[in-house]
Amino acid sequence: MRNREKKVAGEAAAALVEEGMTLGLGTGSTVAFFLDALGERVRGGMNVRGVPTSEQTAAVCHARGIALLDIHSVDRLDLTIDGADEIDPRFRMIKGGGGALLREKIVAEISERVVIVVDSAKVVEWLGAFPVPVEVVRFGCQHVQRHLAGMGIAAKLRSNGDAPYTTDNGHYILDCAMGLLDEPEGLAARVKAMTGVVECGLFMNHCHTLIIGTETGAIVRTK
Ligand code: 5RP
Repeated sequence: MRNREKKVAGEAAAALVEEGMTLGLGTGSTVAFFLDALGERVRGGMNVRGVPTSEQTAAVCHARGIALLDIHSVDRLDLTIDGADEIDPRFRMIKGGGGALLREKIVAEISERVVIVVDSAKVVEWLGAFPVPVEVVRFGCQHVQRHLAGMGIAAKLRSNGDAPYTTDNGHYILDCAMGLLDEPEGLAARVKAMTGVVECGLFMNHCHTLIIGTETGAIVRTK
């Protein structure tokens, strides 16, 4: 059922893409449905180019014939389509379940418009049931873990089999069980200020339009 909802949301987002646009291309299983639908439009003759937010997305784009842009060649993007792990009524989000939070945040911040695609389970009243991913430098990452522990936050080093998971940027991820968040903005700022933290998976002001896939169609909400 969730896959069906993700497909509905991804396909609805693909319909928003216009000829000639420069795109930010998010990461994850919901975005994969968007890329499938976009690939079909490209095969039909549409001309668009996009900055991928992960090596995984870049590989999917290659397979679908979607032209890629180097982030260094653009100052801004017309439209970004990305997923989320949780999103609240004020469009605040937790992202980074797929490990691409740093590139996702950069791409969102150079986009005129950001559309987030989710299945209905991602829509929450309060953020925080999903552990917040925090990208950290590998050197001394225990220092950040200790700092977080001092704030009462259990931070688990993400693993990939027996080894730590490494992001496309060569960093580690700490998945932080924070509990339901009263004031995510303040927490995001405190986490971001820690030495060794590269980026925090709390996205406070990055979504303009939300597309929720449901069994009966797509629900579109705009800020
Ligand atoms: C990757 C992300 C994804 O957008 C998020 O994890 C949602 O993924 P999915 O659509 O597979 O549920 O933030 O870093």
